[in-house]
Amino acid sequence: MESDDVKTQNHQNCTLVSHRGFNLISGTHDPDEVDQIYNLDIRDSDVFVVTYPKSGTIWMQQILLLLEAKGDMTAISQVNKCSNGDLIPWIELNGNIQAFIAAPSPRLRVTHLQYQFMPAALGHKGKVIYVARNPKDVLVSYFHFHKLANMLETPKDFNGFFEKFMRGDVFACRWFDHVKTWHSHKDDMNMLFITYEEMIQDLQSAVERISLFLGKQLTDKELANVVKHSTFNNMRKIPQANYEQVPVDLLNHHQGKFMRKGYQNSVSSQNGLHSHAVLMNDDE
Ligand code: PPS
Repeated sequence: MESDDVKTQNHQNCTLVSHRGFNLISGTHDPDEVDQIYNLDIRDSDVFVVTYPKSGTIWMQQILLLLEAKGDMTAISQVNKCSNGDLIPWIELNGNIQAFIAAPSPRLRVTHLQYQFMPAALGHKGKVIYVARNPKDVLVSYFHFHKLANMLETPKDFNGFFEKFMRGDVFACRWFDHVKTWHSHKDDMNMLFITYEEMIQDLQSAVERISLFLGKQLTDKELANVVKHSTFNNMRKIPQANYEQVPVDLLNHHQGKFMRKGYQNSVSSQNGLHSHAVLMNDDE
């Protein structure tokens, strides 16, 4: 689709499409389909996880899947051909809207979209979990992900990518606008606003808050299992949390793992002010 609202920007191996002031990825997103999201009917049980890229989407997918499964990791891994992204899909990806309409409840979805594209009905139905991560770590993570993901431009160097990130010349545009806009609407819908750093500092409390927000009733043991299977070190060993099923022409697994450094970044960015919960709750 080409119109005044849609501008394309060619890169060596990807094309960003600017649609209504927001950068989408050509071939991955269709602006017409993205526009259909606004009018979707919403159910009380729908849950949308909203993130700027590299802010902990896969982490929240893992936690929601485990909350649904009452902490039973085997129940999730039985669907072994699926990644977390297949089990809790992106609403904005090409072809995903019909599946959303037809899906049984509860419909759990993730999105990197800006607020203005989201279903208007979220103002009175459904739930939103916004996960924000500090921009320095997002920048570093996004830089490395651009080398991994073949649908994104491979950066020439970090400085050049830094400039693009600051200008918003990347998928999902400027981090600052994304977080600010969503945060400014947090009282207009049933939203839990949580940060990646809060999850790092005390994963147990974060899981309890998420469980309460979703109205889940898990025993202490079940909650402990959700926490255990959501730690960085444990998730790093799980193929479905690393998109290992995704073909190498989409994700170049030789460039590194999807679960890259996680908490180690945040430790540096918080000047060492972090809890050891993450390190203590794994199997290593
Ligand atoms: S994406 O591509 O936008 O969906 O990426 P996203 O899933 O939002 O973010 C990936 C980063 O989140 C880190 N991550 C975690 N950190 C700490 N603990 C846990 N459990 C966890 N799960 C995912 C992941 O490692 C990516 O960050 P970096 O800094 O690249 O390691």
